[in-house]
Amino acid sequence: MITQEIVFRFLQMKPALNHSQIEKEAGLPSKTLYKAQGGLIKLNEKHLAKLLPILRDYGFTEELFSKARVISIVNHKGGVGKTTSTINLGKALSLLGNRVLMIDMDSQGNLSQCFGVHQPEEQVIDSLLDKRPLPILEIEPLLHLSPSDIQMAYRELELVNSIGSEKRLFNKLSPFLENYDFILIDCPPALNVLTTCSLVASHECLIPIQPEASAYHGVENLFNRILEIREHLNYSLRVRGIFFTMVHKKQSIHRNMIDHIREVYGHFKIFDSQIEMSTTIKQSQVAKKDLFDYSPKSLSANQYLDLAKELITL
Ligand SMILES: Nc1ncnc2c1ncn2[C@@H]1O[C@H](COP(=O)(O)OP(=O)(O)OP(=O)(O)O)[C@@H](O)[C@H]1O
Ligand SMILES: [Mg+2]
Repeated sequence: MITQEIVFRFLQMKPALNHSQIEKEAGLPSKTLYKAQGGLIKLNEKHLAKLLPILRDYGFTEELFSKARVISIVNHKGGVGKTTSTINLGKALSLLGNRVLMIDMDSQGNLSQCFGVHQPEEQVIDSLLDKRPLPILEIEPLLHLSPSDIQMAYRELELVNSIGSEKRLFNKLSPFLENYDFILIDCPPALNVLTTCSLVASHECLIPIQPEASAYHGVENLFNRILEIREHLNYSLRVRGIFFTMVHKKQSIHRNMIDHIREVYGHFKIFDSQIEMSTTIKQSQVAKKDLFDYSPKSLSANQYLDLAKELITL
């Protein structure tokens, strides 16, 4: 049976659908959806039974939300905003009502530190090498974290030499796919076994790019690696899109680089939402908070919220 929560997740996914039209087709009083969204009423079984066939006509299926979308945030260039994007996209998705798990696959442990998790006793690498399940910490009810620290670097060689190393995260994640709507993997700045492991476990990847020549030049190597992984290890991996981070909108050099990347990589989805360069982001990380806790009304928080909304529709 469909639930109210799933109705609204489906409507979020299809922002172009007209709510009044759906109410009319389902034979519901006008503004029913509006009132339910605002918490004034709760959709009851009769409402849901009437809505189900109409939503099916618009593409709803039960399978749509039965398993998490697993998404790697990947770019082997360092410092392009992978971790910042994992934190804030993760938080934005949770604020939109999704159950989110973030996985720290970087031995720098920046993602974990940002949530105040230092030297975690149980961490991702132990689970990949031993018989333990993935360790999961609850940051907030809808936002969970699987942490890492420098131990991951110390044990990386063990992982390289282990049987089926590249499939190990995939295997460890499978029991959790039904517990989450989104699983975001923060990849390290390298095309190493940990990045391969992340991409093999993922359905999709998102590529943050800083619109500067140095950041753009290496990106072809990343696409080649993704192609190799698709060919040999994970046929279902999709490049869900490229998004720009640390953008200076007023600098013509950034604008020109963005236009150039749109031209060269136009066959990929390039997100409309862009994350501008902002000191609020740096300050929020010094304060060890996500943007939505640190400065919920900031431009940066809104830009990550827009990115999350755009991601949901894809
Ligand atoms: N939009 C932004 N504006 C200003 N500073 C930013 C922005 N995004 C990220 N930063 C800062 O840039 C630095 C690098 O960001 P981040 O750690 O997210 O990159 P990364 O790609 O994860 O790096 P690494 O490759 O080392 O893992 C951090 O200090 C972060 O606070
Ligand atoms: Mg990082």
